[in-house]
Amino acid sequence: MGTVNVSKLGYVGFETPDVERLVEYYTTVLDFVLVEGDDRGAFLTTGSDHHCVVVTRGDAKARQVVGYELWEDLDSAEQRLKNAGYVTERRSDIGPGTPDVLVLEEPMTGVALHLATSQDPSGVQGFTPLRPTKLGHVAAYTPELATMQSFYQDLLGFRWSDTVGDFFVFMRCNADHHAANFMASQKYSGMHHVAYEMRSPDHLISMLDHLAKHDYRLHWGPGRHGPGHNLFTYHRDPDGNVVELFTQIDVVVDEAKGHWEPRPWHEEFPMYPRTWEVDLATVNQWGPIDPPSLDH
Ligand SMILES: [Fe+2]
Repeated sequence: MGTVNVSKLGYVGFETPDVERLVEYYTTVLDFVLVEGDDRGAFLTTGSDHHCVVVTRGDAKARQVVGYELWEDLDSAEQRLKNAGYVTERRSDIGPGTPDVLVLEEPMTGVALHLATSQDPSGVQGFTPLRPTKLGHVAAYTPELATMQSFYQDLLGFRWSDTVGDFFVFMRCNADHHAANFMASQKYSGMHHVAYEMRSPDHLISMLDHLAKHDYRLHWGPGRHGPGHNLFTYHRDPDGNVVELFTQIDVVVDEAKGHWEPRPWHEEFPMYPRTWEVDLATVNQWGPIDPPSLDH
């Protein structure tokens, strides 16, 4: 366990030259709820959390900020981060729904990480058939994998879930296979993709039909990844950011045992975190491989 204990991915921030267009995409196409819009940005949610997506005006930039929840109060987290030599800033003005936030800079990328004990509830009630269940993970490029991995594992309490080759690592902060994944790259930087969870394959298919009606086409999938075994689809938002809609991701129910809950599509039983070969079965068990997805 790390210095502090991240328990959940909270939100991801996007800067865009066209706030209205991106908010329209999130509300009309992905069926998110716009909880609040003010001069600090537009705050959108899939459910009880105040927000899981923040949209602000600027140059097109994805993963401009990532918010995580901690299992603990901020005073002790602040102290332990300080003892570990990290500079944090305590903020009460980050945005609605997050009145008490520790801001910490991610190494190498400079991305602002927001740590909070919890968000205020969004007030959103009821059920709609299309809306994703939650923000599942945010994948990003990093110039150097080992430094990023040790930052997340040793400082923030993430656990190692899987690695592809020597360049793509998946880490979890709760039962879900990954909340953060990083691809080593000297060529690319910034966000790799953002992923929203659907309840089931049927739910995912309904959303794909809805996307098609709004002229959003998949550029990859559906398929099934090896690491995480999630059923995946990828399309692009109006700014060109890659958005994954997925379902059936691996979960670890018992951290002491440390293996994934058995699923019929697993390669072995029990299935533990491991390092995967770079091959078709790893990238997409169903085929075909998508060449750009292997860029690093
Ligand atoms: Fe993903």
